[in-house]
Amino acid sequence: MKILITGAAGMLAYDVCMFLISRNHTVIKTDINQREHDVEYLDVCKFDTVFECINKHTPDFIFHFAAETNVDLCEQRPEHAYRTNTIGTENVVLAASRHNLPLLYISTGGVFRGDSPDPYTEFDNPDPINVYAKSKYEGEKIVKDTLSQYFILRAGWMIGGLELDKKFVFKILGQLKDKKKEIFAVNDKFGSPTFTFDFAKNILPVISTERYGLYHMANVGVASRYDIAREMVHILMLEKDVKITPVHSSYFPLPAPRGRSEAIVNYKLNILGLNLMPRWESSLKKYLKESLINNGIYER
Ligand SMILES: NC(=O)c1ccc[n+]([C@@H]2O[C@H](COP(=O)([O-])OP(=O)(O)OC[C@H]3O[C@@H](n4cnc5c(N)ncnc54)[C@H](OP(=O)(O)O)[C@@H]3O)[C@@H](O)[C@H]2O)c1
Repeated sequence: MKILITGAAGMLAYDVCMFLISRNHTVIKTDINQREHDVEYLDVCKFDTVFECINKHTPDFIFHFAAETNVDLCEQRPEHAYRTNTIGTENVVLAASRHNLPLLYISTGGVFRGDSPDPYTEFDNPDPINVYAKSKYEGEKIVKDTLSQYFILRAGWMIGGLELDKKFVFKILGQLKDKKKEIFAVNDKFGSPTFTFDFAKNILPVISTERYGLYHMANVGVASRYDIAREMVHILMLEKDVKITPVHSSYFPLPAPRGRSEAIVNYKLNILGLNLMPRWESSLKKYLKESLINNGIYER
């Protein structure tokens, strides 16, 4: 299959491209960020160039990953967020529609209000509370209302991509590298860690069913950032050297509001026997040991 990917220089695309290539698929990588030499410049905000690019490459499938993923920046610059995440998605969707192509869109567990004690399923109603999640949810609606051949996969807190990881795990690793003796981590907000290498492996089994629609796809289990930091220290056998101190989210004031819980469960994938996502703790161990230490990103 020939797959055109938007946002192909990003964290999720790093593992998805590696996996697809290992399975002999042809990947056309596009992004506004050209940190990789094999990425073609494509700004999803510009409809004409999106259309021309798809016309030129004639892919069999579009994986639309491009997004402004900085949640706090989205809150501060809503127009930028809606232009990239909603209108950008509309552009890609319209081009897919004109070429009658199936499309995969990645959304977020952040689309829910965040006050449920249980992880959210695909059958719960979204009610996003920050601009990032609203802009992604509007993207979902455009995908669903315009296309018949689509997959929307909602991910949780994404972890992976080695140096491309700008998120929590990489920040904690930075503090461990700096030999910090005490690390503060929030223990009143919960999510579903989602490792990009697990996510990448689960995509093909899902889309090859042609059972189009919306799915949750996160690793199994719910965690706070405090739980993740503690598990990291445990895996790296640093418990005697580093203290992880739980703090309330008000300790790190941020521009965008976050609900208490962004946790999701792969309810539909479980019913269909398509859930290949492992527990988050085992994937964290694999990520730290096999990816970061073996690649020299973290040294003990
Ligand atoms: N990260 C998470 O925790 C998370 C959770 C749930 C769902 N998702 C979704 O998963 C998808 C992949 O996210 P990711 O974690 O891989 O994020 P990422 O590392 O930020 O990758 C997104 C890529 O899109 C690029 N981009 C931004 N604006 C663009 C535009 N106008 N045209 C083309 N490319 C553009 C970014 O470039 P710059 O780096 O230069 O901005 C970046 O290379 C996104 O749709 C995201 O919303 C992410």
